[in-house]
Order: sequence, then structure tokens, then C-alpha cells
Amino acid sequence: MKVYGESEAEMTAPPMVPKPVGKRAATKLIVNMEVVEKEMEMADGVTYNYWTFDGSVPGSFIRTRVGDEIEFHFKNHPDSKLPHNIDLHAVTGPGGGAESSYVAPGHQATFNFKTMNPGLYVYHCATAPVGMHIANGMYGLILVEPEGGLPPVDREYYVMQGDFYTEGEYGDRGFQAFDMNKAVDEDADYVVFNGKVGGLTGDNALHAKVGETVRLYVGNGGPNLISSFHVIGEIFDRVYAEGGTTINENIQTTLIPAGGAAIVEFKVEVPGNLVLVDHSIFRAFNKGALGILKVEGEENEKVYGGKTAEGVYNPGTVVSSESATEETDDAPVAELSMADKMERGKQVYTQNCLACHQATGGGVPNAFPPLAASDWLNADPHRAIDAVKFGLSGEIKVNGNVYNSVMPKQNISDEDVASVLTYIYNNWDNNKSEVTTEMVKSRK
Ligand code: HEM
Ligand code: CU
Repeated sequence: MKVYGESEAEMTAPPMVPKPVGKRAATKLIVNMEVVEKEMEMADGVTYNYWTFDGSVPGSFIRTRVGDEIEFHFKNHPDSKLPHNIDLHAVTGPGGGAESSYVAPGHQATFNFKTMNPGLYVYHCATAPVGMHIANGMYGLILVEPEGGLPPVDREYYVMQGDFYTEGEYGDRGFQAFDMNKAVDEDADYVVFNGKVGGLTGDNALHAKVGETVRLYVGNGGPNLISSFHVIGEIFDRVYAEGGTTINENIQTTLIPAGGAAIVEFKVEVPGNLVLVDHSIFRAFNKGALGILKVEGEENEKVYGGKTAEGVYNPGTVVSSESATEETDDAPVAELSMADKMERGKQVYTQNCLACHQATGGGVPNAFPPLAASDWLNADPHRAIDAVKFGLSGEIKVNGNVYNSVMPKQNISDEDVASVLTYIYNNWDNNKSEVTTEMVKSRK
């Protein structure tokens, strides 16, 4: 294949991707990339020393077409502490370019390769200890479009999953160092999209309009975990399986191996928030692997009608559970001492609440509200009792953040409700209220 002309590759930070190659002929393409080691946010109040390609995690998206002759200029910033290199899975050649690109801080190297196979490929640092360089954020995607380009779509985004291993646990505040033992054990504290908790939520959410076709270039840097990539509320119309040429249609969840990728496409038909997750679902709600694609536009009730009826369901029979109490309604109850309530409350919390509200009541951003220093909680103990006893749904505001979700009713005794709420009120900067069993009993 003949190559015409020469141009410099457009490079973009996630979630954006460069312009499509379209019908352009194969060319000589100059790629400039710089390694930067820098401290960035892993989650609210948590920082981490990332090693990056071009300053972002994942690194810049590189977009080429098959037959391009790439001249790759690889630089390592003088402030770096370590040497680095790059192994591009799109390269046919030893180490994917790793040996040729190995550079000490304040040095640069140039190497060449030709893109032989169309597809979506991962690149990563391959400097020893390789796992550690990848775990610190050294990965990204390179797309090799086929002759004539991929079919046009309305929106394209760049999403990449990665797992992180920190000395503290998930959410522990302050600077967190890399933990090699946890990495070896594959015991991830964080599993995230685009480098951090909230990398694709809030101001970082993705956007589309009803009727548009969205294409996501999804990679998985690992270093360890396989992603069960799923979008809640959508079905992938097409998946370029494993980033290759085979197209699979009508897919709910697609596997993305560590060091692999997939291209997924879907038309958005109704407005609302679509939720990107790793469907190994504790990772989504407890480790950060959750993103939002916000779809705006007209409702389409044929496609999705929303709730059309609501009512009480009472089958007339009782399915008893062990923890349900046998207290008769009116018998007076002996109140536990404060110390007993605190101890009992802690156990009840661990068994019933911790999974969602987290060990120290911090909650999970955008999913479960905090119980620590919660203005909602401190404003009214009766309302809090009702939330636990009867469940809670609909929009609430906690410390300025809106939650609109469902907390199931907790099947625990009135005494346990009193203990757990007393425990919560007397911990984590709450207002030290005491909740009595009588108070719980009187809520109907
Ligand atoms: C909201 C307490 C278990 C999910 C709340 C609130 C309280 C509370 C006081 C009000 C908001 C705030 O102050 O932050 C408890 C206690 C629990 C418990 C004491 C255990 C006995 C759970 C569990 C889940 C859950 C197991 C998840 C399955 C939620 C959600 C909300 C919420 C989603 C917000 C509901 C809305 O948006 O309307 N919880 N919770 N909670 N809780 Fe729980
Ligand atoms: Cu490196």
C-alpha cells in the first residue's frame, strides 16, 4: 500500500476521541506523546501518584487507519522519577515497541511501525515491574480504522476501566500510596472508569440526544480484573467483539479482558440517565466502576412507558423471617442501656446497613447518601426511624446532594432500629441523639 503525505496525529484526553479518518489515504503519521508522573484525585478527598501518558488516565487516544506509517516520538518528562516505555498492541514487532521506546527521565526516543490490522488496541507501559506501571495508570487506546473508515455515528466517546490498589481502604482520605501486596492478590480497592471515582459522573458525565447513535471505545487497562461491561437501560445494537472485526448484535454485557477492548454502538431511544457499569456489580456500587450517559430529548412512551400504576400489595399471608419480632404491640419494653445500644447498634449496622452506607457512614457518591454528618438524619429522628422501618424512596437532599433512589425497608426489630440509629447518631459527627424503642414502636 502506498503512503501519501505526512501529518501530525490529533491526540485527545478521555472521554473525547480525535476526528474520524474518513476516506483519507494511508499516510505518514507523526505521533507525539509524553510521560508525566503526577498527583491527581482518585476520589473525593483521596489523592494518588499517577504515572500517565500525556497527563491523563487513560492516556491520549490515538486514531490511525490501516496502512499508516507511524513515526512515534516518545518523551519522558524531566521531572519523572523512573524510566518508562510503551507497548502498543497495534504494533507488529518485538514488545510492541517497548524496547525501542524505553526512555529515562528527561530523554526521548523515536521509533516507526506500520498499522497492519484494523481494530481497537490497548497500549501500556511495559517497564519492570510492569504490573506496577499499569496499576499506576499507564494505559490507553489506539484505534486503527479500516480502509474507508468506520461507519459514521452521532457521538463517539473514550472510556477505559482500570483497577487500583491503595494502602488505605476504599474512601480512606488523604494521599494513598500504591500497595504491591494487594495488587499481587488482585484485591482492588478501586475499580474505575477514566482514572477515578466519578470519572464519568456529575460534570464528567457523557451526553447524547434521543435518536442519536452512540459509539463507545471501551478499553480495560487492568492490570488484573476483567470487565463485564454493561450499560443499564440499553442494549448494544452492535459490539465489535474484543475490538476486532467480528460484529456481534443485540448484546447486554460484553466481556473486556485486561489488556483488551471493545467497540459498542447503540441508538438512544428515550431520555434519562444510562448507567455504565462493570456488572461484577460490587465494583460499580462499592469500588467506583460507574458512569453516566445523560440522554436528553422527547419521551417515547411506546419504547418506554414509565410507571403506569402503583398500589398496595397485600397477599394476606405472612412470610416470617427470623429477625421479625414476636413482641405484641402494646407490651411495654425494657430499654437497653446506652452502652448496650451502642454495641448492639454496631452489629446491626454491620449486618444491615454497611453494604450500602459504608463502614464509616460515608455512603457512595451518587448512589447511597452519607449517614456521617448527615443534615437529613440530624434534622428529625422520627423521619429517620420511618426510613429504616418502612423504607425510603423518592428525591431527598443530603448535605446539598440530591439522591433519588430506593432504600428497602429493613426487617429488623424495633429494638434494633433504636440501637442502630442511636449508634449512628452517636458516631461520625452526628448530633448524639438517643432513639428509644418506644419512639420506634410509636411510628406506624
Ligand atoms: C437513605 C439509614 C440500610 C440505601 C437513608 C437515610 C437514612 C438511612 C437515615 C436518609 C438519608 C441520610 O441521612 O443519609 C439506614 C440504616 C440502614 C440502612 C440505619 C440499616 C439498618 C440501607 C441499605 C441500603 C440503603 C441496606 C441499600 C440496599 C439507601 C438509599 C437511600 C438511603 C438508596 C436514599 C433513598 C432515597 O433516595 O430516597 N438510609 N439505611 N440503606 N439508604 Fe439507607
Ligand atoms: Cu512506566
